[in-house]
Amino acid sequence: MKVLVTGGAGYIGTHTCVTLLGQGYEVVIVDNLSNSKPAAVERVRELSGKDVAFYQEDVGDEQALRDIFQKEKPQAVIHFAGYKAVGESVEQPLKYYENNVGITVALLKVMGQCGVKNIVFSSSATVYGDVENPPLREDAKLPHHANCPYGTTKLINEQMITDCAHADPAFNAVLLRYFNPVGAHESGRIGEDPAGTPNNLAPYIVQTVVGKRDKLHVFGNDYPTPDGTCIRDYIHVVDLAEGHAAALKLFEKGGCGLRVYNLGTGRGHSVMEVLKAFCEAAGQEIPYVIDGRRDGDLPESYADVSKAKRELGWEAKKTLQDMCVDSLRWQRQNPDGYGD
Ligand code: NAD
Ligand code: UFG
Repeated sequence: MKVLVTGGAGYIGTHTCVTLLGQGYEVVIVDNLSNSKPAAVERVRELSGKDVAFYQEDVGDEQALRDIFQKEKPQAVIHFAGYKAVGESVEQPLKYYENNVGITVALLKVMGQCGVKNIVFSSSATVYGDVENPPLREDAKLPHHANCPYGTTKLINEQMITDCAHADPAFNAVLLRYFNPVGAHESGRIGEDPAGTPNNLAPYIVQTVVGKRDKLHVFGNDYPTPDGTCIRDYIHVVDLAEGHAAALKLFEKGGCGLRVYNLGTGRGHSVMEVLKAFCEAAGQEIPYVIDGRRDGDLPESYADVSKAKRELGWEAKKTLQDMCVDSLRWQRQNPDGYGD
């Protein structure tokens, strides 16, 4: 099966492409490199030993996208492309609605015009908002808006794709709600390469280990959790990548209609537990300071993963220790990420 991967040069996209290529899928990457580097695509080619078609295009450019679909004739799409910085989305909401919602409209239109009926969409645990208590189940009632514009774009995308599935019985869509992706490919050749100061916990910690940051700022230790710091469901990015391969299998079996799955481990770890695991993996103390709470953070979020196990035959295998060791290997081997 040939799969067109939007945002395939990004963090999760590169890992997914390597996994898919390893399983015999053909991959076509469309990425405008707004948050990634050409070297990432080169590393996918290097790791897979396969030729991967790459188009540096904006997914919102319908004509360019149509040309790619007509030339490459993919049978399925995995849609990773989008912006993902929560804080930036609060400051510049329209940037997020334009890119994250607008390009999905363009993509769905072009898929319709070209007769491509299978899509996997990168959603997020953020769609659950703060209404339900964990473990979060896919059938939870979702809020009308998330706690930031970025999250709301995920809700809107889920709704648009759901409406397309309702409008066309032959349309197949798998919405994957990722929890907290961490880690890197065990080769140390691909990994997360955040621009500027990292917003997320794991990249901030690894940059502290290599001396690019002075110390970790722990955002609050007065939450109603055992050690007072927030709990999240961290999942190794390679496990996440395999979740996408499992989703594609649904298309190969025939019409699956609309499906929604959490991709997490089902286990929560606190910020202090993650820090401790990184200290062990690094073999050193990692300096930190307790700061105030960050706006919008939930005390606790972790997945109910039973549906993905039951229906996709997929479950996360890697441990928090694996995530730490692999993130550190990537950071140490590539202190400046993919470079300029
Ligand atoms: P990333 O920024 O590394 O990758 C996204 C890629 O999309 C980048 O390479 C970027 O250049 C590209 N892109 C953005 N807008 C584009 C456009 N208009 N046209 C073409 N390419 C475009 O992010 P990631 O961490 O790999 O995340 C991938 C997807 O997973 C995103 O949709 C994100 O919202 C979602 N997600 C990520 C996380 C996380 O913590 N990383 C959690 C939940 C969901
Ligand atoms: N944290 C710190 N210091 C930091 C960064 C984070 O203490 O420098 C804490 C946060 O307060 C939170 C935990 O570490 O308690 C995890 O924070 P992340 O930013 O790594 O992850 P979030 O759970 O906040 O956000 C992630 C993705 C979002 C997605 C959300 C869905 O980054 O894109 O999960 O739950 F929307």
